[in-house]
Amino acid sequence: MPQPKSVPVPNDDCCEWEPPRTTHDSRILHPVASTPVILRAGTHAPRPLLKPRTILAQAMGAGDPTTRALVPPVHMTATYIRDADNGYESGYVYGRTDNATVKQVEVMLAALEGATDAMLFSSGMAAATAVFLAMTEPTHIIASRVMYWDFRKWLANVGRYGGHTVSFVDTSDLEAVRRAVVPGQTGIFWIETPSNPLWEITDIAAIAEIAHSVGALLCVDSTVSTPIVTRPIEHGADIVVHSATKYLNGHSDVIAGAIAVAADSVLWQDIQKVRGQLGAIVGPFEAWLLMRGMRTLDVRLREQSKSAAILAEMLSGHEAVAAVLYPGLKTHADHAIASRQMEGVFGGMLSLRMKGGEAAAVRAASRVEVWRRATSFGGVESLIEHRASIEGEGTPCPPDLVRLSTGLEDPDDLFTDLVQAFA
Ligand SMILES: Cc1ncc(COP(=O)(O)O)c(C=O)c1O
Repeated sequence: MPQPKSVPVPNDDCCEWEPPRTTHDSRILHPVASTPVILRAGTHAPRPLLKPRTILAQAMGAGDPTTRALVPPVHMTATYIRDADNGYESGYVYGRTDNATVKQVEVMLAALEGATDAMLFSSGMAAATAVFLAMTEPTHIIASRVMYWDFRKWLANVGRYGGHTVSFVDTSDLEAVRRAVVPGQTGIFWIETPSNPLWEITDIAAIAEIAHSVGALLCVDSTVSTPIVTRPIEHGADIVVHSATKYLNGHSDVIAGAIAVAADSVLWQDIQKVRGQLGAIVGPFEAWLLMRGMRTLDVRLREQSKSAAILAEMLSGHEAVAAVLYPGLKTHADHAIASRQMEGVFGGMLSLRMKGGEAAAVRAASRVEVWRRATSFGGVESLIEHRASIEGEGTPCPPDLVRLSTGLEDPDDLFTDLVQAFA
């Protein structure tokens, strides 16, 4: 069974603060003290003392203390020099487990999520699956009925990896969640909020309470919210997972994933081993690109959310549209929870259900000229997708749905393009 939630450890003194000693060490500037510190591989993140936008814009002060370059280098290395006494004083041993560029992004993400630690992975799928591959005993999992389709398919067959069992439940229905608990066996709750592609909202605090009351952990896939909109740990979650491919990077040019945790645990130690053993670490260049992308996360997401809200309102009245699914709309079934949990910023994702059914949805996607027809989301360019046809058999996604990822274009252009595509 996974470790029960332990009280988060205050991490004021979790870093090893030392003056710089050699030019080979990875130094990370503490956001408040502005003092170069050596953050050894495996140590925890400093407590976030600055606002997310500041942490992001300056990448927590990362730079190169040797040349005084404002922007940090990419640490492209597969291995590290061993000390004469046979040790590894720097804490960095081998590239499959340790990399200073990767570490810098992990420290940033942990600070943003209010986590004690974070790790990057080679993809969101690598991060999500690592949680379950690290569990050493057969466990019953309760998971959201609607979630990223490929991960749901993997989870449906999770039994082959250690004999786990899974129940898919409408996690916005708390009674249904309580009924799904298997006493003594339910060890993990997995929710995605907002859920892709219906954008249903799950109340993180309520699920955390249920999970903890039965000694289970709560994992939240927070890809769509990002820490700008929701920090699940503040609502009681134990583990936060991201596809960093999406909003965190934001430029559709990196595949990466991440996990952040509320507290250290045996499970967390095992997840770290799984990443090292499977070689699921992200490459240093991808980590560097991710760091660059994250610098603008706050401004990007707020602008994308603003445009998505404008589009949701304008499209709600359109004659070709049967329903607009967007948690920022007052008519959305979960708007009250979303308002509380998403801090008034409802994200850049919305879906439309077309009055003309599947044919109208496919046709709209085929006729756009400004929106780009592609899977994925969270980038600066707006994407449209007929989701049911990519998910296939058994999907809870209705065939009349088009998914919209709002980018940074002018919302007037985006609206006009959609309207001409509906005609
Ligand atoms: C919500 C969500 N989580 C996880 C993933 C998997 O991420 P990746 O494609 O980086 O493996 C995706 C991918 O679309 C996603 O939408």
